[in-house]
This record gives sequence, C-alpha cells and structure tokens, in this order.
Amino acid sequence: MSASSAPSLSEFGNPNLEPLLTGEQIQTRISEMGAEIARDYAGRNPLLLGVLKGAFIFLSDLIRTIDLQIGIEFMAISSYGAETRSSGEVKIVKDLDVAIEGRDILVVEDIVDTGLTLSYLLANLRSRGAASVKLVALLNKHERRLREVEIDYLGFNIPDAFVVGYGLDFAERYRNLPYIAVLKDPLIQ
Ligand code: IMP
Repeated sequence: MSASSAPSLSEFGNPNLEPLLTGEQIQTRISEMGAEIARDYAGRNPLLLGVLKGAFIFLSDLIRTIDLQIGIEFMAISSYGAETRSSGEVKIVKDLDVAIEGRDILVVEDIVDTGLTLSYLLANLRSRGAASVKLVALLNKHERRLREVEIDYLGFNIPDAFVVGYGLDFAERYRNLPYIAVLKDPLIQ
C-alpha cells in the first residue's frame, strides 16, 4: 500500500464521516462516570466486565478514572443471525473464566441499540448468583430500543444514526478513530 492510499488515523477529510463527539468530550464524560462509580462502590471490589470487541477502548479509559480496587474480565457475544437476533437470541462466544457468585458486576458496553444483546446478557449474569449487576454504557440510541434495558451509568444519548470510532466499527474498520463520528453512508464505508 502506498503512503498516499493508507488511511490516516484521524480519517481527516473523509467525507463519509460526520464528527459527533470529540476525544476531549469523551474523556471528560468518562472521568465524571469513573468518579461516580468510585463513589457508589466505595469500600467494594467491583468486577468490570467488558463486552468485546467494541467496549475495549472505553473500558481501558474508564478503569483509569476509577479510584478503587477493581477486577476486569471480558466476554464476547454474537447474534445467531439476522432472524434469531430479533428474538433476542444471542450466543456467548467467549465466556467468563471466573465465577461471579457474590460479586458486584459492572457490565461495560460501548452502545445500547435495540437492547437485545444486553437484556440477554444481564439476565444471564444475574442467573449466576452475582451480588449485583449494573450496566455502564458509553452511548445510548434510545429510539431504536426493542427491549427495555436500564442503563445505570450512561455517557451520552445519541440520535438514531450509525456511529463509528473509539472502539466502534463498521465491518471492523474505524475502531481506532480517537473520536466518534456518524458514518453517513455505510455502503461507501
Ligand atoms: P443491541 O443488541 O441492538 O443493543 O446491539 C448492541 C451492539 O450492536 C453493540 O454492542 C454494537 O456492537 C452494535 N452496534 C449497535 N449500534 C451500533 C453503531 O451505531 N455503530 C457500531 N456498532 C453498533
């Protein structure tokens, strides 16, 4: 690939991207969320459970703002396919390596869209005997909700648009953008 055809990190000038949240806005909000979590969980040792892949950047920035002893685990989830997804049926691709009985769990997700994935995951975790299960989400597209999901710590409400960057992808592209942008036409990428 020649230097001129390599995409720049910022994708500056990409006409298909409409910036929505700057890296600075994201960091400021995450610091507030981390402080709130540290206050609420003072004296406890919550387990932050990141949902791969999208939440990995958010989780890594979030934990550096939580002044507490915490644990970290990851799970990966995928839908069975377009049809079963609408029924809320999802598949755990990577499960936890540890028991969560009696633990305070904070599920960390990039975005809540229809709510199908999260409603399945939260119910699954609650059935494993966790002391508490709460949800931290960076973004919320409430207009698209099919299943009600309570978000305990929310970064931003956003309009119904497909967004990329800061961990969120379209066909595995754009995860490394240091900000969040609306992908104007997914057919162009
Ligand atoms: P839900 O089950 O519809 O709430 O789906 C949540 C998952 O869909 C998220 O964890 C993302 O992986 C993906 N997703 C939903 N909306 C977007 C978006 O606007 N950009 C990128 N991924 C998205």
